[in-house]
Amino acid sequence: MSKVIIMDHPLIKHKISIIRDKSTGTKEFREIITEIAMLECFESTRDLKLHEIEIETPITKTTVERLEGKKLAIVPILRAGLGMVAGMQTLIPSAKIGHIGMYRDPETLNPVEYYCKLPADIEERDVFVVDPMLATGGSACDAITQLKAHGCKNIRFMCIIAAPEGLERLQKEHPDVDITVGALDDHLNDHGYIVPGLGDAGDRIFGTK
Ligand code: PRP
Ligand code: URA
Repeated sequence: MSKVIIMDHPLIKHKISIIRDKSTGTKEFREIITEIAMLECFESTRDLKLHEIEIETPITKTTVERLEGKKLAIVPILRAGLGMVAGMQTLIPSAKIGHIGMYRDPETLNPVEYYCKLPADIEERDVFVVDPMLATGGSACDAITQLKAHGCKNIRFMCIIAAPEGLERLQKEHPDVDITVGALDDHLNDHGYIVPGLGDAGDRIFGTK
């Protein structure tokens, strides 16, 4: 079964409280999404492997730990996932970026894929799939299925707000994928929106409504 981290940190709670507020404007919304993504990235990369090397400080020779340099990739689910990329790149600047474009059909709530461009060596990389919202879980599940079809074996999903319905579906369909969640909300409404949620993440990041 996948490991789920639900971020339990006052800074994250505070920042999520601001983006939930409908009076928060696009600029602040985008900046805070970036900050939350960076904080979630910090926690989600806890398992990265280190190796020892010898260096010289100005005082003496010593052994220090450095990242093993495992190849990483960040894959945002368009559009809203784009908002999380800058925060992730701040901490893992050498990660390659792939893009999977999906929108939810408003009637069926099923995801429709319209774009996929991944690094050529994606199957060799540990992949962080990012999308602020995990609602029914359809978009995340399909994006991860697509990545597995490209040969990816080590995938983690990161979101800012999850509905219990989406979390359960993702764990059931992809039990090998560990998940990082900023906040676990109450339920989905009849239109597939997360309650209390923050509304349409894509529209709020890009100012399209
Ligand atoms: C939103 C969100 C997720 C999806 C979540 O995208 O960013 O990708 O909905 O819903 P699900 O878990 O039920 O699939 P949307 O389809 O609104 O597209 P957008 O990012 O282009 O606005
Ligand atoms: N997508 C969003 O952007 N918000 C939701 O609440 C559900 C899906």
